Parts: sequence; structure tokens; C-alpha cells
Amino acid sequence: MVAPPSSVAAPAERTAEQQSALVWSYIKGFHATHLMGTGIDAGLFAAIDQRGAASAAEIAVALGLHAPYVTTWCRTACAYELLDAEGPETFRLAPFMREILVTASDPRHIGAYVTVMQRYGGPDLADHARLYRDGGVFTFQQHGRDFSDLIAATTGGLQTFVARRILPAVPGVRASLEAGCRLLDVGCGAGGLMMRIVQAWPNVRCHGVDVDAHGIAAARTHIAGTGLADRITVAHIGGETAQEENAFDVATMFEVLHEIPLEHRNGAMAQTFRALKPGGLFFILDETYPSTHADLRRPEYTFSVQTAYNELTWGNVVPTREVQEDLLQGAGFRDIDRTMVAGMFTVLTARKP
Ligand SMILES: C[S@@+](CC[C@H](N)C(=O)[O-])C[C@H]1O[C@@H](n2cnc3c(N)ncnc32)[C@H](O)[C@@H]1O
Repeated sequence: MVAPPSSVAAPAERTAEQQSALVWSYIKGFHATHLMGTGIDAGLFAAIDQRGAASAAEIAVALGLHAPYVTTWCRTACAYELLDAEGPETFRLAPFMREILVTASDPRHIGAYVTVMQRYGGPDLADHARLYRDGGVFTFQQHGRDFSDLIAATTGGLQTFVARRILPAVPGVRASLEAGCRLLDVGCGAGGLMMRIVQAWPNVRCHGVDVDAHGIAAARTHIAGTGLADRITVAHIGGETAQEENAFDVATMFEVLHEIPLEHRNGAMAQTFRALKPGGLFFILDETYPSTHADLRRPEYTFSVQTAYNELTWGNVVPTREVQEDLLQGAGFRDIDRTMVAGMFTVLTARKP
């Protein structure tokens, strides 16, 4: 492996106490993640939110929970600035916590992500030492149906933003969406992005492909349930499998590129290229891994470094910008452009000449 062309070290003046405090802050983050997961699972945040302010004892009775545990949960959540205290043992949500952890439809909601981390991230990471011995993997698809459903829930807010704001802002795309184009969603999962696109743009038709049987089954259920079967179709195949040629005006990959096994990435790019009409747009939203060690510590890479780590033993590899651009150019795409969304995701656009 070629070493990234940079070195990075802690500031020389950092004390042992500061370094120790850093480690303790990570241990606190572990507890805070589990505390939030418990608060979501046990309905604690929602119960406090409903009442505006409530005592731990009142919440325990309402939810049928063990009062001393709920008291310690509330006090700890207060210590972590997730709840505010109002008099003796009475608590309310800290500002914006309703949007962030309670209201699933809010674009800022990340409750499902917390649940994924607690329910699946914890066990996955606990298994790392064993898998490090032989490079074994436990893939996305092996995690099962509930996991696929939860992943679909983590991406909903951003999908709405992409369907209504980001995709139509790409030059020329709004007119195409309005007129009624065909869109291919590679790695469609449960079909959330396609649903949001057809709901926002009544003349668009979509076709989605994914290797995850659970995701495709969920997509079929949602499509049938919303009466959109004449506008959205799905197939349980990989993006590296041949699609209709020169058939689509737009192709999307939403949080997928880093999940495609390395051996299929060139194939998925080539097939997406083939499926697009000349002039067609390829829209990718994904993480970008830092190209240098110095970039590892830059805030805009925090999420991609974290994703690369917690998805490591799923077999996922988050590509650097150089790798992303080589993949696109290698398949024949031109006019490659990139921008950042929400301070952590990369949007890449490219055209089939
Ligand atoms: C994080 S999920 C995103 C799913 C969906 N786009 C969403 O936003 O809900 C990544 C998806 O990529 C799919 N995937 C991985 N490898 C693939 C491949 N070779 N072809 C198509 N989909 C693939 C996974 O099965 C999974 O559904």
C-alpha cells in the first residue's frame, strides 16, 4: 500500500491530562449513544416531549418502567445536555431534541441512526477483534430485514432534500423532471428515494436495482401500498448487471458507491453509463474518504472516517475523491463536478457525453 503523502501529529504542547481527557470524552460518547438508544427504545424522549416537562417518577409510571432506573437515566441525560432540569427531578427536552430524536419525519431527525449504532454498530464493533484475524466480513445484506428497514429510515430526511432541492438544482435537471424523465436508482434499497422523487415530480418514472433481497421486498411492499406500481419498478440485481441500454435520463446512487464490493465497482459504473442516454446525468451522493493523513482530522471528513470504520467488516471501502473520479472517468463519464451537502456528504455529478 502507498502511504498517503502527509504526516500528522498531536500538538507538541498537549499535556497528558488533555490526552486523557480526550479518551474520557470518547468513553462518554459511548455511554451517550447507548443512553439515547435506550431513550428511543423505551419511549423516554417521546414521553417527556408529550408532557413538555415531567418528573422521572411520572414518566416511569406512564411507561411502566422501574422508577430508580428512569431517575438515573434522566439525570445522566441532563448531565449530557440532552435534557434540561426544571426544579427537583423534573426534566424537559434540551432545545431541538424533538426534531433530532423524536419526530421521525423531521429532516434533522437522526434517531434511526442512533438506533442502528446501538443495535447493530455495537455488536459489529464488538466482533472486530475476531474478524481482524482473517479479514472476515459480515455484510450489509447479512444483517437481516429489520436492519434494512432501519437503514431506510436513516436516509429518509436527506432523500426528501435530494428529491426536492438538490437534484433539481443540477443544471438542466429541473426541466427534465418536470417534463417527465426516466430515472435509474442503483442500490435503491427500500425505494425511499424513488418514492420521494415520483411524489415530487408527477411525470417521472423510476426503476431501481439492489442486491439486498430485504430492501427489494420492502420496496415492492411500499410501491404496492402507495399505488405507484405504474411509475416505479424494481429488480433484485446488482448495479453491475446489464440494464436497458440508452434508456434513462438520470441515474442515481444514494449512499451506495462505498457499499459496492470493490470487484463490482467498475462494472456498476460501466453498466450505469451504458443505461444512460447520451447527455444523461449520473448523480452520486456518498461519503468521500480523506486522501491524506492530514485530512483524517478535518471536520468535513469526520463522518466518512466514522462510516469507513463502522462499516469496515461489512466489506465496505469508502473511496477517496481520486478513486471516485477515476471510476467515473474510466467508465466514460465527463463534466465531473462535486459539492458538499450537510457538511458531511459529497454530491458528485457527471454526464454521459
Ligand atoms: C446504505 S444503503 C442505501 C440504500 C438506499 N439507496 C437508501 O438510501 O435507502 C446501500 C445499498 O447499496 C446496496 N448495494 C450494495 N452493493 C450493491 C450492488 N453491487 N448493486 C446494487 N446495490 C448494491 C445495498 O444492498 C444497500 O441496499
